[in-house]
Amino acid sequence: MAKEINTIGVLTSGGDAPGMNAAIRAVVREAIAKGKKVKGIKRGYAGLLQEEIIDMEAKDVSDIIQRGGTILQTARCMEFTTPEGQQKGAEICRKHGIDGVIVIGGDGSFKGAQKLAGLGINTIGLPGTIDLDIACTEYTIGFDTAVNTAMEAIDKVRDTSTSHERCSIIEVMGRGAGYIALWCGIANGAEDILLPEKYDYDEQKLVNHIIENRKKGKQHHIIVNAEGIGHSASMAKRIEAATGVETRATILGHMQRGGNPTCKDRVYASTMGAMAVDLLCEGKSNRVVGYRHGDFVDFDIDEALAMTKEIPEYQYEISKNLSL
Ligand code: ADP
Ligand code: F6P
Repeated sequence: MAKEINTIGVLTSGGDAPGMNAAIRAVVREAIAKGKKVKGIKRGYAGLLQEEIIDMEAKDVSDIIQRGGTILQTARCMEFTTPEGQQKGAEICRKHGIDGVIVIGGDGSFKGAQKLAGLGINTIGLPGTIDLDIACTEYTIGFDTAVNTAMEAIDKVRDTSTSHERCSIIEVMGRGAGYIALWCGIANGAEDILLPEKYDYDEQKLVNHIIENRKKGKQHHIIVNAEGIGHSASMAKRIEAATGVETRATILGHMQRGGNPTCKDRVYASTMGAMAVDLLCEGKSNRVVGYRHGDFVDFDIDEALAMTKEIPEYQYEISKNLSL
């Protein structure tokens, strides 16, 4: 028989992402609507192990749907990667009467949820990361806001790049994944898009491309470089020396993780938050919520973690033609 859930814990873990607050709000309100109690676990698994656990009522999540960051705060916690840490976490859940935990984070955080599920605490994962690097889902909470933030910043760099007839290398986040770079590259009309999944490290090709574009009369040359490749400053120096075109590097950094979530991030995060509660109420555990082919769906965490995802080949190929 499915375990009855009376009290739901919720935590955010790993890098924060705009829309996490919308998800927390939805968890709290959907749970209360279903007659459940909610406990907020602060600072991810680190806060769980420190018993930083607070009761949450509907009013505690008012005025947060529009805010970036996470009111529960977030952390990375090495101790929770050990069997002892996980055992301690499960015991603390039991001590606080927490029967189910909703974990909002990335793949690393899901591994923690998987371990808690194995120790008898029902868990549901929600994909929260600006990187879009979770294989089971086409959408992750925060990606839409982050790419829009980065896109607006790159538009601004492009203005000054054009005025000064420069080449600009703009580095965007994404850890080992190139999704933010690909989307911005297309949205900003970049002349070159460097993705960790695709880049062959042939800098001479970039140099030739800049020189060709100069001959064609292009007044700027925007290179969107993914964090997974990095080294934008030294790349800029080498490119300037080889082309004679003044080149500047801009690293957008953590500004991409902040700011008010877009409408899409608010709506999808809200839907996913409510769905996580509904899954727990149905007695489900060790599941992760995703978005695929137009539907919100859920997967077994073990299967989700085993999936792989590639950069969309067609979009990558056409991006080269679009910046002719
Ligand atoms: P993300 O969730 O964004 O992928 P991390 O990889 O930093 O971010 O993971 C966040 C946290 O999840 C880690 O600090 C750790 O507490 C927990 N975690 C990561 N990997 C494991 C694991 N193999 N087992 C248990 N917990 C893990
Ligand atoms: O996973 C989100 C992310 O912002 C990545 O894009 C980036 O590599 C990493 O987190 C940065 O982490 P930190 O906030 O620890 O510098």
